[in-house]
Amino acid sequence: MSRTRSTGSTGSTRSTCSTSDVLVIGGGIIGLVTAWRSAQRGLSTAVVDPEPGGGAARVAAGMLAAVTELHYGEETLLALNLASARRYPAFVAELQDATGHDVGYRACGTLAVALDADDRAHLRDLHALQIRSGLESEWLSGRECRRLEPMLAPGVRGGLRVDGDHQVDPRRLAAALVTACERAGVVFHRSLAERLTVVRDRATGVTLTDGSALEADQVVLAAGSLSGRLAGVPQEVLPPVRPVKGQVLRLTVPPAFAPFLSRTVRAVVRGSHVYLVPRENGELVVGATSEELGWDTTVTAGGVYELLRDAHELVPGLTELPLTETLAGLRPGSPDNAPLLGPTALDGLRLATGHYRNGVLLTPVTGDVMAEFLTTGVLPDEARPFTPRRFSPVRQEQPA
Ligand code: GLY
Repeated sequence: MSRTRSTGSTGSTRSTCSTSDVLVIGGGIIGLVTAWRSAQRGLSTAVVDPEPGGGAARVAAGMLAAVTELHYGEETLLALNLASARRYPAFVAELQDATGHDVGYRACGTLAVALDADDRAHLRDLHALQIRSGLESEWLSGRECRRLEPMLAPGVRGGLRVDGDHQVDPRRLAAALVTACERAGVVFHRSLAERLTVVRDRATGVTLTDGSALEADQVVLAAGSLSGRLAGVPQEVLPPVRPVKGQVLRLTVPPAFAPFLSRTVRAVVRGSHVYLVPRENGELVVGATSEELGWDTTVTAGGVYELLRDAHELVPGLTELPLTETLAGLRPGSPDNAPLLGPTALDGLRLATGHYRNGVLLTPVTGDVMAEFLTTGVLPDEARPFTPRRFSPVRQEQPA
């Protein structure tokens, strides 16, 4: 439990000050898993967020796509992605046991398909990279793709069958993590963190927009795309995280149409990624745009049009389905597309942010490595390539 005391009044305002071992700024899935795992390790832990369980997870499709979202030059990130994917079954079982929540984990696999010669060449390159990286991925002809997924367009020219890329429902995951945190004794402050408190070159807590102040031995900045905006964070340790907008649609597959798709289907159509993620409850998530537009979260006619146009080229029958939701969220992009995990050059300030396209996938491993670091002061080997120090080479670091 966090400790609460009244601060001495030096002016007209009097504030309550709570103290904990760990204070997590941001109650999205990354902040929540960090808090849950830390509380499990015996650390008194608090989370600051006006709406815990919200954030990018409300929008995300929840693909666990370590293999199908592999990119050139991201082999180090691949190792972390695979480490997290391997943890998923046990992580989900533990979370479901702790909370009674079903988080919609579905070991359904993924089919990445090509619609024209350019897409096919792109997919062949991806396949070669996957094989060189020791990953399981099988090339299928167009006919073999349609045998697996009969709703696919007749024009599909080939594809990659990746049986290891699964999915989870991020909204359910976030709700389960809130419950898990509550049951583990995490204290929630449903307010907005306004300013990091720094005393003699050490982060010691935050002040909130409601005027109260929180103190902690260690502060974890896990505020997703907002992580680079917290006032009071010295410029040289401010995480280089930027918002990358993604528009996403949700459709519903009526029982009469089921099974519509049995696995995640994705493609690159005219250079844009489109994916269709079918849930067991009939929801079909179609995503996503990728737009560098700052803090804009408007759902645009153009975004919806492009997603539906590309998804329709893949699966023409999709236009018969009810469109139930349109939403836009902000991915926390980092300069190398990889997360920032662990200590900063400011004593007491730790980061768990910048997960970009892989926040849902990286949730289990992030919780584990952050809790290990917060408990022992030692960052596990698998997280060492992802310390924030890679973006601040000049500054003297504290040891990991
Ligand atoms: N990982 C899927 C996306 O970011 O759109």
